[in-house]
Amino acid sequence: MRQIVTTANGDIDVLKIQEKPDPTPRDDEVVIRVRAAGLNFADILARQGLYPDGPPKPCVMGYEVSGVVDAVGKDVNSSFAGKSVVAMTRFGGQSEMVAVKATQMFEKPEKLTFEQAAAIPVNYLTAYALLVVMGSLHEGESILIHNVGGGVGLAALDIAKKIGAVTYGTASSGKHKFLSERGLHHAIDYRRQDWQPQLMQLTNGLGVDLIIDPIGGAHWKKSYASLRHTGRLGMFGVSTASANGISGKLKMLKAVVQMPRFHPLGLLNKNRGVFGLNLGHMWHEPEKVALWMRDILRGVDEEWIRPHVDQAFSFADVGKAHRRLEERKNIGKVVLIP
Ligand SMILES: NC(=O)c1ccc[n+]([C@@H]2O[C@H](COP(=O)([O-])OP(=O)(O)OC[C@H]3O[C@@H](n4cnc5c(N)ncnc54)[C@H](OP(=O)(O)O)[C@@H]3O)[C@@H](O)[C@H]2O)c1
Repeated sequence: MRQIVTTANGDIDVLKIQEKPDPTPRDDEVVIRVRAAGLNFADILARQGLYPDGPPKPCVMGYEVSGVVDAVGKDVNSSFAGKSVVAMTRFGGQSEMVAVKATQMFEKPEKLTFEQAAAIPVNYLTAYALLVVMGSLHEGESILIHNVGGGVGLAALDIAKKIGAVTYGTASSGKHKFLSERGLHHAIDYRRQDWQPQLMQLTNGLGVDLIIDPIGGAHWKKSYASLRHTGRLGMFGVSTASANGISGKLKMLKAVVQMPRFHPLGLLNKNRGVFGLNLGHMWHEPEKVALWMRDILRGVDEEWIRPHVDQAFSFADVGKAHRRLEERKNIGKVVLIP
């Protein structure tokens, strides 16, 4: 089988296609013949050497796939063989074939193409955990979704709309038309002007009930300051550090130094909550994640979960796929096709 290997820290030239023997399933695993693999911002940060959760290099990245079950392990129901599925993979997804635990696999909804299905796990589980589980977003409340045009951003928008929240989102201006057609109430261009005064003006100086922030560093301070009373801030990424070489390391250091420190008395007196999320640290809680996933897949049936594929790239064009995310051109998900 062919795999995309990140051979070292660096720019896109470190991404190579390599041949490896086909995997065989362990007793509790299936082997999936991959039809589409999701690309995530974590893959970019891993290539840049800025992702502490990534495997040692050389490594095969990839947190999610859709495809067809090719082989089943001894302890797995054999009726899964030949089924179309979507799965979470703890790396190795960017391959023609991948072995995964059966508990991390779900039947692919028939209404979705393989490309759309590969856009579900990371983006929608992250958004679900941020909005529903930890952020407790309620009907009539307001949410600011940073980078709302990205993969997690669009997923969060679907969920916020289903809940019945008022939605604010930051994104590059070229994405605003698409976002308002998709149902975003207030799009804010954060690239040309400071988003915070715009948000405060739109909310009559109050701020919002929930902010989800993947940018990190000093940005989290600004988001925290933009919460209204009983507001919550969900922190889940440090895109601000994204860069190759020494520049990335320096940006990460700056982001860490500039992160806010929250004092319990400050939280208490301002009626605010803060939380963090790392979906990649949930592998030991498969039952919990499976419950979230079932709700999301029900949403596909009910048509309020609408995975949007920005572009599909062949494995050979993986460098172009990385560039599309790094250059902020994507609207929604970028997927890789073996
Ligand atoms: N903690 C978790 O469990 C978890 C899970 C999934 C994702 N994440 C994080 O969530 C964020 C979004 O991930 P994603 O996979 O859905 O990616 P994405 O949002 O589809 O892709 C990147 C988008 O982010 C925006 N962006 C903001 N700062 C950027 C920068 N410095 N460089 C490049 N793009 C930047 C760009 O859009 P605009 O500039 O137009 O807004 C760009 O199009 C990332 O920080 C990722 O690490 C965390």
